[in-house]
Amino acid sequence: MLNYKQYFAEKITSVLTGFEVQDMMAWMEYPANPDQGDLSLPCFRLSKTLSKSPQVIAEELKTTLKDEHIDEMNAVSGYLNIFLKKSTFAESLIRHISQAGDGYGSQKLGHGKTVVIDYSSPNIAKPFHVGHLRSTVIGNALYHIHAFLGYNCVGINHLGDWGTQFGKLIVAYQLWGSKEAVTLRAIDELLDLYVKFHEEAQKDPALEDQARSWFTKMEQGDQEALALWQWFIEISLTEFQKIYNLLGVKFDAFQGESFYNDKMEPVIQELKEKQLLVEDEGALLVRLDDFGMAPALMLKKDGSSLYHTRDLTAAIYRAGKYEFEKLIYVTDYAQNLHFQQLFKVVELMDYAWSSKLEHVPFGRVSIEGGSLSTRKGNVIRLENVLEQSIQKIRDVIEARNPNLANKAIVAEQVGIGAVIFNDLSANRIKDIDFSWEEALNFDGETGPYVQYTYARTCSVLKKAVLADRHAMQTNEVVGANLHNKEAMAVMKMLYLFTEKVEQAMVKLEPSIVSRYLIDLAQAFNRFYHACYILVEDAQLREARLALVQCVQITLRNGLKLIGLQAPQEI
Ligand code: ARG
Repeated sequence: MLNYKQYFAEKITSVLTGFEVQDMMAWMEYPANPDQGDLSLPCFRLSKTLSKSPQVIAEELKTTLKDEHIDEMNAVSGYLNIFLKKSTFAESLIRHISQAGDGYGSQKLGHGKTVVIDYSSPNIAKPFHVGHLRSTVIGNALYHIHAFLGYNCVGINHLGDWGTQFGKLIVAYQLWGSKEAVTLRAIDELLDLYVKFHEEAQKDPALEDQARSWFTKMEQGDQEALALWQWFIEISLTEFQKIYNLLGVKFDAFQGESFYNDKMEPVIQELKEKQLLVEDEGALLVRLDDFGMAPALMLKKDGSSLYHTRDLTAAIYRAGKYEFEKLIYVTDYAQNLHFQQLFKVVELMDYAWSSKLEHVPFGRVSIEGGSLSTRKGNVIRLENVLEQSIQKIRDVIEARNPNLANKAIVAEQVGIGAVIFNDLSANRIKDIDFSWEEALNFDGETGPYVQYTYARTCSVLKKAVLADRHAMQTNEVVGANLHNKEAMAVMKMLYLFTEKVEQAMVKLEPSIVSRYLIDLAQAFNRFYHACYILVEDAQLREARLALVQCVQITLRNGLKLIGLQAPQEI
């Protein structure tokens, strides 16, 4: 498929000297209003170099640029507006998408390059909450997007499975817990114990010391401490796995913080050798005052490691193991400083790959005004959210389409899809106020809306096949029959898919794909309502069906990229 921006940028730079193709491509726009062309070049940027007014440049280009792909051009207010030859555009687009199928939108940009993505990474012995969901969903989408663009991806779950909180849990378990209760209530019991520890420690600060010494024992390999810790991990992982199964998310490795336990010592040595460590009241840290940041703490005065120590060790380990092109960390923006410090320390250690580290921060999620995580334990649990969502969708299906086959499966796909999509619907840095009514609205800008539109394409195609009138055409018939404005609007959206996926990868912003899917679904629905598809005129019908099939392919590919299922009927 022709890349039109590139194609015209090359043409234009060949007639106008002094410009780069890349720049020209970046300046070109797809006008929202079809009266302003399919592609447009604002000539303002060229004005200075050429010492001519933008309008004169646009007019001159209009007379010099003659091309088989161009139907007409106009020069208005300094813009050169290009109208594509509709039949050629339609014909080549539909042929390309039909042939590419599941591969439509993919590229080989990342061939031979590895991207490591650290996402989800919940903390053991605490419930998986809505904040971790957002990391899981964004990370998973970034994984699929990179893989689609040819990168070799490594998804790592950097579980929070090490640290003083385990000391706290051990103390709490020994004081107030029992084997029976933990076995029975699993993660709920662990959370209650953790919360109780914090309540009691307010009254009796000595508990904190006990907790610290238990953690020190863990770091020193104490059998009793480690056995309890191992047990807590198993309980938590079983719980997390249920959620990953519901979400359909996988990891290439569960490599939690504890994995780096025996790898931290050499890193501390290295920091010392590079003269980056200073002692401060017994603790060891890297000063970052020169960069306007608080110091990065590497060892506490009792010799125990910290979040930073383990993250630094993990980064060095991953650099050695994967030789990554990018190492991406997906967390809440509350960790901005942590990652700025980490990246700076890596840079100070003189590792060339420090520039390949990327933090992908995202905003907070609150559910209908409620707070999500408090020390007091009234955390809204993700599992409940997902279950409620599935239930609500089941009710909707029961009302709208009671005879649907596989109701339970579809309700799960749409219910989960609604929650995932909601997390990706806005620019990731924005805080989200989760509202059931918005997230589940089949007519809103939601997952269910996109999935429903996909199911609509399936049902149209199914009807066509049932009526035995379906023989896909991807030739001139298509080109000659898709000229109306609704069809043209759909095709222009279809064309943009490849570019949007690439942008989502470059900006590490999966919401570009979800926004795109809404726009495509809306364009398709306008077409669907304006143009009856199964018309008598065989050629027109075939052309429209071919378009529907391309929308089906593109929606399915897009949904898959952001981690949503595409049910054929809802
Ligand atoms: N466990 C951490 C949390 O829940 C997130 C870990 C993110 N990854 C990392 N390498 N620090 O806040």
